Amino acid sequence: MELRHLRYFVAVAEERSFTRAAQRLHIAQPPLSRQIQQLEEILSVQLFERNARPLKLTDTGRFFYQHALQLLAQTAELESMTRRVGKIERNLCVGFVGSTLYGMLPKIIRRYRQQNAEVELSLNEMSTMDQIKALKEGRIDVGFGRIRLEDPSIRRVVLREERMIVALPLGHVLGDAKTVLSLHDLTNETLIIFPKSPRPSYADQVLAAFHDRALKPGRLLETRELQVALGLVAAGEGISIVPKSVYGLKRDDVLYKDLDDANLVSPIIMSMRMLDESEDLQRMLQLIYDLYDEEGMEYHTPTDRESHAKKG
Ligand code: BEZ
Repeated sequence: MELRHLRYFVAVAEERSFTRAAQRLHIAQPPLSRQIQQLEEILSVQLFERNARPLKLTDTGRFFYQHALQLLAQTAELESMTRRVGKIERNLCVGFVGSTLYGMLPKIIRRYRQQNAEVELSLNEMSTMDQIKALKEGRIDVGFGRIRLEDPSIRRVVLREERMIVALPLGHVLGDAKTVLSLHDLTNETLIIFPKSPRPSYADQVLAAFHDRALKPGRLLETRELQVALGLVAAGEGISIVPKSVYGLKRDDVLYKDLDDANLVSPIIMSMRMLDESEDLQRMLQLIYDLYDEEGMEYHTPTDRESHAKKG
């Protein structure tokens, strides 16, 4: 069995039609049908239901489809990683979600550049979901996001859990009410959440925080990004729940208040290709832990695997 068989099979399974699959693969239909027939002969199984229109996978076909997808993803990963290893110049492409810019990301990048002048760093803002896709396609080498997305070809390291705080318009009654607020105090307010898309996003972590406590925000206002949410808070359109590092983004017209519940957190997650053991990445991870130590920040104790980076 060859990789070609897998590609052809996946196309037919996804298009549920030999005609559309042949168009997608830019080949004629008869050789495609022959290849699928050959594949069924090699495996001595039936992958598609006979005479079903549109085409339908058999149980065996569904099993084979899941594994074929994984194998093709691993092949793409192997291609992009080998290209990267073979590059003369060293470069590291970093994907990040916007909110990490208010945390340690700027410091991490500055320190990494100082310590690794020979590595060309590039930064790309993208959602956590896009980071996973970009990692698999070899467009980035590491992603910093907030959503726990499961993928067999991606390794995730939860770096730390960041507390959530409330952003209120200056002069809001809750500003003087208490020093620390609870989510319950916010249930009559318009809650401004971000980013509106793609989902799931940080917005869903905030909504889950209410849901898990059997609470509901008064009204929802969805916005594209954190800066817009804060602008709307300043304008008195509602309140927002933001990661604590946003506190550093001082605005005269917005007041920040802590929340009383230590479980109201949003993780910062570093994602890499599962098999990428590059030293540039190990150095990046080590540098992050060093910076956390220097700043006296709380972080997740590295697992065995990540502690290699810690030991150097
Ligand atoms: C942090 O704030 O801890 C952080 C932000 C971006 C990348 C890594 C860590």
